[in-house]
Amino acid sequence: MSFRIISAAEAASLVKHGHNIGLSGFTPAGTAKAVTAEIAKIAEAEHTKGNPYQISIFTGASTGDSCDGVLARAKAIRYRAPYTTNPDFRKAVNSGEIAYNDIHLSQMAQELRYGFLGKVDLAVIEACEVTADGKIYLTAAGGIAPTLCHLADRIIIELNSAHSNRMMGLHDVYEPLDPPYRREIPIYKPSDRIGLPYIKVDPRKIIGIVETNWPDEARDFASSDPVTDQIGQNVADFLLGDMRAGRIPSTFLPLQSGVGNIANAVLGALGREKAIPAFEMYTEVIQNSVIDLIRAGRVKFGSTCSLTVTNDCLQGIYDDMDFFRDKLVLRPSEISNNPEVVRRLGVISMNTAIEVDLYGNVNSTHISGTKMMNGIGGSGDFTRNAYTSIFTCPSIAKNGAISAIVPMVSHEDHSEHSVKIIITEQGVADLRGKSPKERAAAIIENCAHPDYKQILWDYMKISGGKAQTPHAIQAALGMHAELGRSGDMRNIDWSAFK
Ligand code: COA
Repeated sequence: MSFRIISAAEAASLVKHGHNIGLSGFTPAGTAKAVTAEIAKIAEAEHTKGNPYQISIFTGASTGDSCDGVLARAKAIRYRAPYTTNPDFRKAVNSGEIAYNDIHLSQMAQELRYGFLGKVDLAVIEACEVTADGKIYLTAAGGIAPTLCHLADRIIIELNSAHSNRMMGLHDVYEPLDPPYRREIPIYKPSDRIGLPYIKVDPRKIIGIVETNWPDEARDFASSDPVTDQIGQNVADFLLGDMRAGRIPSTFLPLQSGVGNIANAVLGALGREKAIPAFEMYTEVIQNSVIDLIRAGRVKFGSTCSLTVTNDCLQGIYDDMDFFRDKLVLRPSEISNNPEVVRRLGVISMNTAIEVDLYGNVNSTHISGTKMMNGIGGSGDFTRNAYTSIFTCPSIAKNGAISAIVPMVSHEDHSEHSVKIIITEQGVADLRGKSPKERAAAIIENCAHPDYKQILWDYMKISGGKAQTPHAIQAALGMHAELGRSGDMRNIDWSAFK
């Protein structure tokens, strides 16, 4: 079958007010870009005429400015799920304009299949190749594209020549059956392949091909600084210590790493620590730093949902595909983040916290309890099921006016039952095997900034200190309230709460 070539504007004209649109991509690799940019123009034109025009967006994770940015600025989004990082989208969410549903990334595809989010009116999928019999070869991410193609009656392909068709073969597309028919996901090591290198659809569902040449919009991260470098070194030292103590096998275990400059610093330190053997990754995003470690022989294999790398790094992978082909696999987020597989493989998870409380509860998403930062991403998928779950963060923010260690988190994403290790530039709190009060002592002594140690011990004093999980409940969010009042948590006066 031959497909109709259409313009992005023509494709966008199929999207009506109230539609639910499914997009390929993940953080923001492999996101459909051209059609969303045209949808934003339609929204602006309709709003100028006084007509309502808003859509819902379902995708794998964050997209780039050509989707979340332009659509948020055009006030074209009614509802969106899951994770996002765009600053204009964040502003719109925190001013109450957009309904944002922050779903665990591994669950997004199945929640669509279960019907929890409504129907997918149109799927827009970025591809590097599509064949007449309906084989769609994805670009730099798996995301939820297989499920979108399966659920949508109409599919638009963005055939993007900015991606090389040397990507063909890197994906492993596998969609589990839904309960009660689901079977085990047969991945026993990060490099196992269990599916097909393409998504297979009925070619009649592909109603148009939009030809584009639009590079991915992945950010480059700030380079490391002394604080992130120290956090990275503390993580490497901790893992090495665990290996020497026999808690991690000498062959090591697969790692998951979050995205950002702390993650880069951590991976850099692990790469440099030659006493740690070359390792594998079972993770959701691979950044430039992992590609460098694969080239250096420090990472043996990377299973991921996306190549969230800069465009020159991506071009380097395409150029050296003969080298990378047996060292990388791209999976749908439902598989890259799958709790069953994470638990089976013994993945060591490493994610970043906004704040951590004295008992090990972690807030990854909300500033001062109410304002959305980005979202939970895959951190919950990995943390809850990891062999050892690590959270890293600088001990202070905003030049010390904020302590990342607080009596009680102002929002909770990961509970004390799942969080095992806290690492700041100050040191490491190993929470494994400890009671709540023992955890509090380890976190204050090893992770809190010196400016806040006494403040946190003083809180423990007013909490009474005897209960299973001591709290002075009227003062538990006192440091957050002080930040709101004076702009500096160090001004807290616990005597006001006695
Ligand atoms: N209170 C208020 N603001 C805080 C804060 C706190 N406790 N801790 C950090 N901040 C601010 C920082 O000052 C910074 O502000 P700025 O942008 O104005 O400079 C901002 O929050 C981001 O902090 P930064 O230290 O640059 O962190 P980051 O870029 O490493 O991101 C998270 C940290 C937690 C926001 C990010 O890792 C995230 O979104 N995680 C959730 C998703 C996830 O874990 N995915 C994992 C798999 S990819």
